[in-house]
Amino acid sequence: MLSFPVTRGIRGAITVEANKEAAITSAACRLIQTMIAANQVDVEGITCIIFSVTQDLDACFPAAGARRAGLTEIPLFCTTEIPVPGSLPRCIRALMLVTTNRQLRDMRHIYLGEAAGLRPDWAASVMVEEEDGGSLSECRDAKADPCPAFRRTILDIAPYQPGKPISELERERGLTDIIKMASNENPLGPSPKAIEALRQSLSSLHIYPDGSCFELRQALARRLDVEDVQLIFGNGSDEVIKMLGLAFLEPDDEVLFCEPTFSEYAYTAHLMGARIRALPLADHAYDLEAMALAINPKTKIVFVCNPNNPTGAYVSKDKVEAFLARVPRDVLVVFDEAYYEYVTAPDYPDTISYVKEGRNVVVLRTFSKIYGLAGLRIGYGIAPIHLAELVHRVREPFNVNTSAQIGALAALEDDEHVKASQDLNNSGKAWLYKELSRLNLEYVPTETNFIFFNLEQDSQVIYEKLLDQGVITRSGGIFGCPTWLRVTIGTEAQNHRFIHALEKALHS
Ligand SMILES: Cc1ncc(COP(=O)(O)O)c(C=O)c1O
Repeated sequence: MLSFPVTRGIRGAITVEANKEAAITSAACRLIQTMIAANQVDVEGITCIIFSVTQDLDACFPAAGARRAGLTEIPLFCTTEIPVPGSLPRCIRALMLVTTNRQLRDMRHIYLGEAAGLRPDWAASVMVEEEDGGSLSECRDAKADPCPAFRRTILDIAPYQPGKPISELERERGLTDIIKMASNENPLGPSPKAIEALRQSLSSLHIYPDGSCFELRQALARRLDVEDVQLIFGNGSDEVIKMLGLAFLEPDDEVLFCEPTFSEYAYTAHLMGARIRALPLADHAYDLEAMALAINPKTKIVFVCNPNNPTGAYVSKDKVEAFLARVPRDVLVVFDEAYYEYVTAPDYPDTISYVKEGRNVVVLRTFSKIYGLAGLRIGYGIAPIHLAELVHRVREPFNVNTSAQIGALAALEDDEHVKASQDLNNSGKAWLYKELSRLNLEYVPTETNFIFFNLEQDSQVIYEKLLDQGVITRSGGIFGCPTWLRVTIGTEAQNHRFIHALEKALHS
C-alpha cells in the first residue's frame, strides 16, 4: 500500500454471448463489478471508465451495464474498435481510471470469458473462474486472510440497486425538500389503521413472531377464498421469490422471463446456479407467445411479471389462458402481481383460479405497494397445496416479523385506504398522461402506480437534473433502457412538482 493515493488504470475485457442488449448489459455489469471487487475499488475513487466494443456489437452501449453495477454518476465513454483481422469477436474492453493506494504490481486486470485468452498472464493471476467455486485469494488486502473459495455463481449477481433514499440525497446535495418518486411506494403512506395497530403492538416486541402468521393467514385466506395452507408469507414478496428458487432450482435448470423486468428473478436464478433465458418484451409487456416457444426440457420456472416492472404494461386473460394451455404441466409458472390492486384493465387475468385448479402456478402479491407497508417487509404467494408444502420446508422459522403481520392484517381490512389510494393513482395517472403528451414524450400506458416514458436522450442526465431539484426518480439505464425514465405516480402536489422539475430539466 502506498501512503498517498495515485491514479491508476485497470484493464478489463469480456466476451458477450450474443449481440443483444441484455447480453451486453449483463456482461459489462459483470466485468465492472469484478474489476471493482478484485481491486477493492472505492466507487468514489473511480474517475471514469472508457469502453470499446468490437464492431459486431451494436445492440447497446455497455454503459448500461456499468449503470446497473451501481455506477450511476461516473463519467463513461464508449467507442467502436477498428476491425482487426482475426481478433476475438463480441468483445467489450474497459479501462477504469481509479484513485488508489494500491501499488502498481497489486493492480488486478480482469479478463473474463473467452477474453481470458487475450491476456493469459493476467487472467491466470486474477480471479480464476472455476467450475466448483472461485477463489478471491489473489485480490486480498496484503494483511487479510486468503478468501475462502466461494460459489462462482454469485459473481453473476448484480447487487440490487434501490431507488436513492431521501436521506442520501440530503447528505449528498444538502437539499431538504425532497420527494421520492422512485420505488413505487404509496404516496398516501401506510393505512392509518395499520399505524394504530402497530402502535398498540409495540409492547410485545420481546416475543418471537408467530412463525405461521396465523391471524393474517386466516383473514387473507377468507378474502382470497383459498385454503389457509395455500398461502406462503415472506419478508417481502422478494423472499417468496427466493424461497421458490431454494425449493425448486437445481444448477443448470433454466429460468425463463422477459427483460427488462424485476431483478429478483435473475438474482434467484444466479443464486441457485440456474441458467437464465431472458426474452425481449413485446409492446412493453411479457411476450407469452415467444415464451411458450422458448420452454424446453430444462425450463423449471417461468416468471411472468404482470403488470411488468419497469414498464407498467400487462398481459390479458386471453393471452395467459393460451399460454398456460401450451406450458408443460411440470413447469412452474409464477405470476408476479405486486401491482394487482392498481390494475383497472377489465381483461386482466384471474390467475388465482389456476392455483385453485391445482396447476403448477404461484401468484405473488405484496403489502409493499398499495397497502403502504414497504418498510415492514411482507409479501405472499398463493400456491396449490403441493407446492406450498415444499416451499415451507425452506422457510426460515420467523421470516415475517410481528409488526409486519400486525400491520398487514390491519391494512388488509382498511378498504377505505385502498380505495383512496386507487382513486389517487387513477387521477394522477390521467393527469401525468396529459402532461407527458403535452411535452411530446412517449409513455407506456400503465396498470401500476408508475409510468415509464421515453426522453429520447440519455435519461441519466435528466435524472441528475431532477435530483438537483429534489425529485428522485429511476433512470432507465439500470433496466437497460438508457433513454427511459420511471416515475412513481404521487400525490397531486408531487405530480405537479415532478412535471415542473422535468420541464425545467428538459429546457436547461
Ligand atoms: C414486480 C415486483 N415484484 C416484487 C416486488 C417486491 O416487493 P416486496 O416489497 O414485497 O418484496 C416489487 C417491488 O418493487 C416489484 O416491483
